[in-house]
Amino acid sequence: MYYTKKHNAKWYNAKRYNFKYMINNPFSYGKTVDGPYFYGREREMEEIRISMQNAINIILYAPRRIGKSSLVIKVLKELEAAGHPVVYIDLFKVSSREKFIELYAREVVRGMKSWEKGVQFIKGVIRGVEPVMGLDHAGMPELRLNIDPLQSARAFEDILNIPGRSKGERCWVVVFDEFQEIEKLGGADFEKELRASLQHHKNAAYLFLGSQRHMLLNMFSRKERAFYNFGKLYHLDKPPVTDSVAFVARRFAAGGYEIDIQMAQQMVEQTHNIPYYLQYLGAEIWESARLSGKKPVEVYAEALDRLLINQGDYFQGIRSQLTPFYAKLLTSVAIHGAGSYESEFLQKFRLFPVSSMQKAYARMIDLDILEKRENRFCITDPFFEMWMKRQS
Ligand SMILES: Nc1ncnc2c1ncn2[C@@H]1O[C@H](COP(=O)(O)OP(=O)(O)O)[C@@H](O)[C@H]1O
Ligand SMILES: [Mg+2]
Repeated sequence: MYYTKKHNAKWYNAKRYNFKYMINNPFSYGKTVDGPYFYGREREMEEIRISMQNAINIILYAPRRIGKSSLVIKVLKELEAAGHPVVYIDLFKVSSREKFIELYAREVVRGMKSWEKGVQFIKGVIRGVEPVMGLDHAGMPELRLNIDPLQSARAFEDILNIPGRSKGERCWVVVFDEFQEIEKLGGADFEKELRASLQHHKNAAYLFLGSQRHMLLNMFSRKERAFYNFGKLYHLDKPPVTDSVAFVARRFAAGGYEIDIQMAQQMVEQTHNIPYYLQYLGAEIWESARLSGKKPVEVYAEALDRLLINQGDYFQGIRSQLTPFYAKLLTSVAIHGAGSYESEFLQKFRLFPVSSMQKAYARMIDLDILEKRENRFCITDPFFEMWMKRQS
């Protein structure tokens, strides 16, 4: 185990008082990350920042867990610090038009000098709402709106138009995360209403994030759709492998361990270089090392086993929803990988008729279980893939 002198003293005390968790886990996953838990993305940040500053809309898409939200929230923080009014709305949290209005208003008020000012402003510009103060789950004050149901269409229009009224020097920056979720809010009509308001806003930049590629691309690149040509399409790639490897080594060092580059490379490879899974695996290995007093490399396999066991119920749940045919196909993909040449795949494994396979692929892509990468079908979750392999 590698320790500097300073660490030794710390570790000694930790042992003595049995404070095994004195050093925090140097990896973080499951929520958006920043600071030392965030790596790379300099070029992407720059590009997004410049577009936003110039009121150019962006549609940013990538599979889940690549780092869209973390990246955009980081840029938003910078833009806010530079004087841009910012709004961030996660459409996963929006179940109705009223909820949308409330969350939007909350963002607007957050950016104002005082609560009272914010509430006055909301009252002044949005018809049919009455702001009240509520408490969030942590007991902090939070804006709630009583919305007159007869006026909710107006209130919706008014709130959307706040950035459009702005004469400020810095443009508004408005982010709709998980934008594909607007489908559940009234589909085409909602889309049209939204577009009708936003298109007139000269002093605002809109950023749409989404994880379902085909849905988002349909929405923004089909002539008949409301958001056709609304902004530039931007695909967020995985980070460069070298960045990911360096990050892993750096975080282990921050957590008290020097690791070999080979181990970091193996982690990046096994997690398909997807930041979420990389941090998840890192967190497990680090914790195993901490608890056992062994080196990370010595506990690697065991930590991975434990992770797969912990995830087992969840994976079991996914698989139990699939028909035996789907499950079989998925196992084949896990073991052999499926290329773009269906027939070649078929010949090799002599599984099923092409048409039913294609249908199954499409369905499993919809379910987010499979994805197409470089023209090959892959299992989205690398741990699920490993688990499937082990089960077969
Ligand atoms: N730039 C980054 N550096 C380090 N870890 C990241 C980065 N981006 C994402 N992650 C990891 O991936 C997880 C998911 O990130 P998130 O931004 O929520 O992805 P998305 O919005 O694409 O689903 C985070 O909790 C974190 O563990
Ligand atoms: Mg996200």
